[in-house]
This record gives sequence, structure tokens and C-alpha cells, in this order.
Amino acid sequence: MYNPYSLKGKTVLITGASSGIGKATAIECSRQGATVLLLGRNLERLTQAMEECEGTSHSVIQFDLSKIDNIPDLLGMLPELDGVVHSAGVNTKYLVKKINQERIDELLHTNYYAPALITQLLLNNKKFKKNASMVFISSISASYASVSNALYASSKAALNAFVRCLAMEIAPRGMRANVIQPGIIETPILKAYALTEEMQDFKNSCPLGHSGEPTDIALGCVYLLSEASKFTTGSIMTIDGGLTLK
Ligand SMILES: NC(=O)c1ccc[n+]([C@@H]2O[C@H](COP(=O)([O-])OP(=O)(O)OC[C@H]3O[C@@H](n4cnc5c(N)ncnc54)[C@H](OP(=O)(O)O)[C@@H]3O)[C@@H](O)[C@H]2O)c1
Repeated sequence: MYNPYSLKGKTVLITGASSGIGKATAIECSRQGATVLLLGRNLERLTQAMEECEGTSHSVIQFDLSKIDNIPDLLGMLPELDGVVHSAGVNTKYLVKKINQERIDELLHTNYYAPALITQLLLNNKKFKKNASMVFISSISASYASVSNALYASSKAALNAFVRCLAMEIAPRGMRANVIQPGIIETPILKAYALTEEMQDFKNSCPLGHSGEPTDIALGCVYLLSEASKFTTGSIMTIDGGLTLK
């Protein structure tokens, strides 16, 4: 059957696969025939996510990405890859007058250093198969200002810039790198907002009238990993129900 979104025969690493967007991405990739490697810190939730995947060829990698000195250890745990989805991320809320180096590091280590260093590691050690595709989960916050969000927003803006330059570097080898910027997606990360008035306002002002589901982003990842997107690289795809139209 004709299916340009098929991932049959592909092996895909998904970080942050124990929850939310990463978990939904692992499940949707498996439904399209991929073998997925699910990476996160919580083994129980990773295993549960793997059990929800279709097929039996998948595996979990328990790894703390905030410990960036250990990232080279990943090399021995990974086969050759057709794709990577960098979904692991954290969000903390501080007014700029309350930030310090520790708080900056906490955000940047997981949100920026880890995807950047994993990409370096995989490229430098020829871990990517021909026509490999990388997807980086950023945020509309990268270009959308809000109070107490300077660290998170700047970590995602840095990621966006990184991916656009990366796309230029890897294009001659037929490889691709793209960003997805989600809007408000119902996952545990939203607890950083703890149902603040601001969050309720965001939800109310979304043109489509509601927040998104993890699968809305996961299916964008499937597109970017598949041959359907073979002419798409360096792009920043916003999936936000129209939130940033205004
Ligand atoms: N939900 C939204 O509204 C929204 C909007 C814009 C952007 N995003 C972005 O989407 C991505 C996924 O977030 P989500 O909404 O799916 O949140 P989530 O449900 O809280 O999932 C976050 C994932 O990141 C993993 N993670 C966090 N720190 C890690 C670390 N040090 N090492 C390894 N894994 C780590 C967590 O795994 P463990 O707990 O197992 O470590 C979990 O699987 C993030 O990059 C986030 O910034 C989300």
C-alpha cells in the first residue's frame, strides 16, 4: 500500500520518550514500522512507553542527559540510526533577577547542550545511515516573549539557530535537520505553569479553541523522519493551533 510516511526498516532514537511528546512520538514511529530506542531517566515509565509501541524490536536507554560529561558513553549503546528526535526538555520559571549560573546550566544542559553534543557525537562517529533525518523539539517560546521564561525561551532559541546551521553542514551528505515548535500541548511539563492565569489565557486565545495533544507533535515528527519530507531541511515547523498567528 502506498504510504510516503512509512518508517519501515528505519531505526530511530527518541529522547524524552518516557513521557508526553517523546512517548507519543515513539508510539507513532513504531506504528509506521520503525524500531525505536526510547531514552529517558525513569526506567519504569520508559518500559511502559515501550510496551505501548507496536512490535517487539524496541529498546530503552536509561540515561540522564543533564550529565553532559557522560554523553560520549551513549556511543556504545547506539546502533546506526536513520533518525533522531530530540524531545527531552525541562522548563523552569524564574524572573531574570532570580537567575544564577546553576539555574542557567540546569536549563541549557538538557535543552541545548545535550542535543548539540549528541549530534556531534553521532556525526563524528558515523552513526547516521544514508539520508538520516534529525528532529529537534523546540518551542514557540523561542520567539514569543513571556514573563519568567527567559531561560527556557533562550535555550529553545539557541536550539533553533543550531539546527539551521546544522542543516547547512549536513545537506551535502543528503542528511536533514528540522525543528518543531509546539504551542501548548497537554503533557506533564505544563506543571511549570501550574495553571496560572497566563496559561489559561493562552489556551483561551488559541484560534483553534483548545490546546494540543502529544500526538499532534508526534505526527509532525513522523513526517519529518519519513521520505515524505525528503526536500525539507532547516525548517522551523510551528504546530500550535494558530496561537502565534496573532
Ligand atoms: N508540552 C508543551 O506544551 C510544550 C510546548 C513547547 C515545547 N515543548 C517541548 O517538548 C519537549 C517534550 O516535552 P513534553 O511536553 O513532552 O514534557 P514531559 O512530558 O515533561 O516530557 C519531558 C521528557 O524529557 C525527559 N527528560 C527531562 N530531563 C531529562 C534528562 N535530564 N535526561 C533524560 N531525559 C530527560 C523526561 O524523561 P524522564 O522524566 O524519564 O527523565 C520526559 O520523557 C520538551 O523539549 C519541551 O520543551 C513542550
